[in-house]
Amino acid sequence: MPRFGMIFKSSKMQRVLQIIDAISNTPTTVLITGETGTGKELIAQAIHKNSNRAHKSFVAINCGAIPSDLMERELFGNEKGAFTGAYHKAIGKLEYANGGTVFLDEISTLNPYLQVKLLRVIQEKMFEPIGALIPMEIDIRFIAAANVNLYEEMMKGNFREDLYYRLNVLPIELPPLRERKEDIPLLLKHFIEEYSNRYNKKIAGITNKAMNVLINHSWPGNIRELQNLSEMLVILWTENRKIDANDLPNNCFRMDAKAPPTIDYNDAMRTFEREYIRNILSETGWNRTEAAKKMGIHRNTLTHKMKELELNSTH
Ligand SMILES: Nc1ncnc2c1ncn2[C@@H]1O[C@H](COP(=O)(O)OP(=O)(O)OP(=O)(O)O)[C@@H](O)[C@H]1O
Ligand SMILES: [Mg+2]
Repeated sequence: MPRFGMIFKSSKMQRVLQIIDAISNTPTTVLITGETGTGKELIAQAIHKNSNRAHKSFVAINCGAIPSDLMERELFGNEKGAFTGAYHKAIGKLEYANGGTVFLDEISTLNPYLQVKLLRVIQEKMFEPIGALIPMEIDIRFIAAANVNLYEEMMKGNFREDLYYRLNVLPIELPPLRERKEDIPLLLKHFIEEYSNRYNKKIAGITNKAMNVLINHSWPGNIRELQNLSEMLVILWTENRKIDANDLPNNCFRMDAKAPPTIDYNDAMRTFEREYIRNILSETGWNRTEAAKKMGIHRNTLTHKMKELELNSTH
């Protein structure tokens, strides 16, 4: 049963889930970093749902999406008459999220002025709506996310050092999909099933060859890219057979710089064969009988191929 809608089996993600369990009920600030599409928002929601704040609001704010003066109003709200055009008192997201969790997405894009204001809120657990005279006490769990290296941004002078250390009390680093390849088949199965149901299609599965290409893809857009690919394949699917490597869009075939374009045919085939066999062997813990069965070849053929390709578990 997937926890918080998260599909995984890699030890790297198991470790992340252990961290979530350990930290959910602390009031401490969390900083989630990871490439685009690695699941930062999903993790932030999981922490909230797993905490004693679950019955209160989870408010997500994308710091990069809103111009900074609007952002200040969004966050802090304002009293009536606080500025020209402020005909009404407006409740800010901080006040709205009181008792719950605020998710500050793309925190690296927060402007310096708001960085100072936010630091104060986190440190003093108080804030003033724009134009208010009396500060308001609040109880908020802050979770921030960045898909750039926030430490580097701080070193370059683009992000305040004091705020960085305030946010980075509990760091969670989400590994890119290419560093947890074991999750790829599981995620594909999950999304293909989900979209098959949604679009009312029958898909017989994925051939080993296609799976191998997908496992070796570098997935720069991570899980979102895999999700989008699954949806596209399902939508375009009209046949009653398994999805094969030729059905995949060209961008999956690049073999990701492992084979330079000038390589000759035999070398390319050798590289491909080596990668393919090595992947299946590592999936089966280097059990040749099981691996040969998966590939649909005889065990002796596999042994022969391994000798020919100089393939063993050490390289
Ligand atoms: N382990 C997982 N299992 C199932 N779905 C996942 C998993 N991780 C992420 N997803 C899905 O992948 C998509 C991208 O996740 P999310 O939006 O959390 O990524 P992100 O790191 O916030 O990306 P960005 O940096 O681009 O904002 C979402 O649709 C999310 O539901
Ligand atoms: Mg996100």
